[in-house]
Amino acid sequence: MGFNSPIGGSWRVLAVCICGGYSASLAAQTVAGSEPALGSSESRITQNEIAGNAMPLADVRQAGLKMFATQFRKSDGFGDGSLNPANTVDPGGRPMLQNNGTFLRVNGLDAQSCLDCHTVVSNDTMPFTPGVGGAGNLSNTAMFKTKAIDVEDQAGNSYASFDGRLINPLALFGTGGVQLLAREMTRKLQQLRQQAIDNPGMTVQLDTKGVSFGSIVADALGQVDTSNVEGIDDDLVLRPFGRKGEFASVREFDVGALMFHLGMQPVEAVGANVDDDNDGVVNEVGVGELSALEIFVTTQDTPRQLPMDAQANSGFRRFNEIGCSDCHRPFLQTWNSVLEYSFPEVPAEPTRNTFYSVDLTLAPAAFETNGRGGLMVRLFSDLKRHDMGPELAESFHDATDQQNREFITAKLWGVADTAPYLHDGRALTLNDAILLHGGEAATVRDTYAALSTWQKNQIIAFLRTLRNPVSPNADVLN
Ligand code: HEC
Ligand code: HEC
Repeated sequence: MGFNSPIGGSWRVLAVCICGGYSASLAAQTVAGSEPALGSSESRITQNEIAGNAMPLADVRQAGLKMFATQFRKSDGFGDGSLNPANTVDPGGRPMLQNNGTFLRVNGLDAQSCLDCHTVVSNDTMPFTPGVGGAGNLSNTAMFKTKAIDVEDQAGNSYASFDGRLINPLALFGTGGVQLLAREMTRKLQQLRQQAIDNPGMTVQLDTKGVSFGSIVADALGQVDTSNVEGIDDDLVLRPFGRKGEFASVREFDVGALMFHLGMQPVEAVGANVDDDNDGVVNEVGVGELSALEIFVTTQDTPRQLPMDAQANSGFRRFNEIGCSDCHRPFLQTWNSVLEYSFPEVPAEPTRNTFYSVDLTLAPAAFETNGRGGLMVRLFSDLKRHDMGPELAESFHDATDQQNREFITAKLWGVADTAPYLHDGRALTLNDAILLHGGEAATVRDTYAALSTWQKNQIIAFLRTLRNPVSPNADVLN
């Protein structure tokens, strides 16, 4: 879509503007500093400019960085409009704090840019090393859909119960490799589903890239029994993003993040020229801008591993021996090295509607090849959800007990740099993070707990070789 409607000089044009933000010709009428931080509509990137690989990656990344790091203003569409009594929870009509229109904090509207939260490249240095695309500190923990926080302990259980999702930001490096893995796994799982339908009564094992997601069997009418499916949704779409494994692509995640954290509404979520949040701005984030944001996030530098000394080597062996690697798979491989981007996305058909592609072996992602045309993605995860037991569970009222206990195996790449740990940041050290495992990981945790201090230190030494990129996104920051 192009934002090229003619714009007149009257103030009324702003009120009924169907042009997508703001025009240079309006600039003269605006008090300096109040104009949209994204600039005039003419300067904003469109899907047409990107589609068909028409624009070089460096330029798309630059436009994506702008979406990621701009501190949005109300003239960009930041924030929600008036309260919507019919739905006071979802972005758009949330009640504001003291009705100030800009801040809420306990159900999103908790930042002014993506960078506010994804800002820590290393927490292992003092002071911490900031950078674009990193993880978040404790104060960046998001509080999703909270209804009640019992700060005075009225419940008398000695802690302030919280019924929302309390969730700490993770680093976004290497996400392109994860998205490519997930798409290939989804394609394979969909083929296995078809195989089951074509062979009624035959049990089909859901194995892909060495990870088992249980099994399915179809009846003669083509109904698929999913009661033995494990660690993935019943539609067999692998959703690797979010700590709960809920989002199939970075694009899907970004749409939610823009609305939830920033009250910035993407056209693809609310429609063109629709002021769904009633804040006087339409077309807050264009399709092309979201494409640039997704391409930027997924082509960032990849986490790295420091050379291992003897202690770390022993630690890696032990990590494998005691069963950490059953979930934290050291690497998964892709068939292809090229990530294709789709719009609109069809989760079960990842190769539909592709408009751009990036070879992830090229800088800045620069993934290692596997020598057979694919990537070695050294993520230390099986991309599967696991029951982590009642102790680690969330207390999210919108979820069942089982859902509250399930998390996708945390990717351990970069882990030495990304304290605090676990979904809500409750573990300040690697040792604590391991000891707080439960559920399916309880046996392995007990084995770890029973190790001697020097054996534990071997595993920690190994984990401490897993590092974030040194100066991520240097290509677009200079
Ligand atoms: C208030 C803090 C905050 C802000 C602002 C924020 N994020 Fe996040 N981000 C998080 C948290 C917390 C998670 C983990 C969420 C979950 O597990 O569901 C996360 C996870 C992600 C992920 C998934 C990564 C993965 O590997 O699972 C992506 C992608 C992402 N954020 C992109 C963005 C983008 C793009 C923006 C800006 C539109 C943004 N975030 C703004 C806190 C934030
Ligand atoms: C049953 C699967 C499973 C096993 C086995 C397992 N983990 Fe985990 N691990 C997870 C999951 C799931 C999480 C995320 C939990 C959360 O976010 O609350 C996690 C989180 C972690 C984290 C924190 C990462 C972060 O960024 O927050 C570390 C460190 C870790 N595991 C190390 C280990 C080690 C070392 C072992 C072996 C002693 C091990 N894990 C065994 C599933 C497992």
